[in-house]
Amino acid sequence: MPKVRVIHGPNLNMLGQREPHLYGSTTLQQINDRLVARGSEMGIEVACYQSNSEGDIVTEIQICRGQVDAIIINPGALTHTSVAVRDALLACEVPAIECHLSNLHRREEFRLTNLTAAACVGQISGFGADSYFIALEAVARVIGR
Ligand code: DQA
Repeated sequence: MPKVRVIHGPNLNMLGQREPHLYGSTTLQQINDRLVARGSEMGIEVACYQSNSEGDIVTEIQICRGQVDAIIINPGALTHTSVAVRDALLACEVPAIECHLSNLHRREEFRLTNLTAAACVGQISGFGADSYFIALEAVARVIGR
């Protein structure tokens, strides 16, 4: 079975409580449970990871090298700042889809700076929690499922 790692960056552990007008009321646990369930319907093994630490996100991306078929990553604020996450995505040579709950193009100007998307196959942004499920559909196409 193909393997997909879903990596959530800083503050995404607060989903459900955090700025619900922007990010919705679904918790990270609910998103993860549904991704695993949807993955198994699609014949994809989904495993999820979250950290508030940039270094831990970099390490998790490195661990994916040679171990998984695709990555779905919501780098959170690291999207806008992290050369290290971008470099890790390039170094791991695993196709990645970037995913955001909010539409970055409808937000503050600093969120238009994006260091990570260019290291990904594509980006999905603006569909709330559904962004992750659309990303899973995109992954299935990328890995030919
Ligand atoms: C986010 C958008 C980022 O700008 C922000 O820092 C987040 C969440 C999103 O999913 O919409 O933490 O990645």
